Amino acid sequence: MRKLAVILAVLLLLDVGGAAPQKKYVALTFDDGPTGKYTERLLDILAAENVPATFFLCGYRVGQYPALTARLAREGHELGLHGLAHSYFSELTQSALSEELTKESFLIAEAAGVAPKLVRPPGGKLPQDIAPLKDLSVILWSVDPLDWATDDEALIVRRILKAVRPGDIILMHDASDSSVNAAAEIIRQLKAQGYTFVTVSNLAAACGAVLEPGAVYHRFGG
Ligand code: NI
Repeated sequence: MRKLAVILAVLLLLDVGGAAPQKKYVALTFDDGPTGKYTERLLDILAAENVPATFFLCGYRVGQYPALTARLAREGHELGLHGLAHSYFSELTQSALSEELTKESFLIAEAAGVAPKLVRPPGGKLPQDIAPLKDLSVILWSVDPLDWATDDEALIVRRILKAVRPGDIILMHDASDSSVNAAAEIIRQLKAQGYTFVTVSNLAAACGAVLEPGAVYHRFGG
């Protein structure tokens, strides 16, 4: 009888203490690509690390690199819109912006066979009227290491590590060796801290959020 009580007590303890600690999720995002050799090297790193990322593409570069755009989708990365030619959405008329987004969606669908549901306005500058974005979720960011403005990869890594929390969206650019090297280091270090990398849509889902069209997001979770 005492044995049974002990077993029951152990089972109760297991039940109480057995819940897995909540996983730490984070999303790496890369803007302005695809850029040829930098994107290729980044994709090799992401594949080796088994890390899915989210790419906010420029339409004119999709036109330049359709095969690389196809590779992005094929390797499990999420694709989003970043405008045709990196114009600030705030400086386009409503009809010009709608036309850009339609054209870019077509280019990405043609190259990679996917229909983007996410958009990131260049510079994070939203248009006055977000009607042209009503069918897309607007994804900004919560960690910005300003990687485009420096070639000091250690600085980029430090800035990210200092700021990052679970649920964050990290903004980077696959447009220089220093950014790609910093991304590789960030992946190693955050994995060591117990982080799991997911696409933006999967980050939202993992944090219990539903991505609504026409809504603006900086990060997910508390
Ligand atoms: Ni950009």
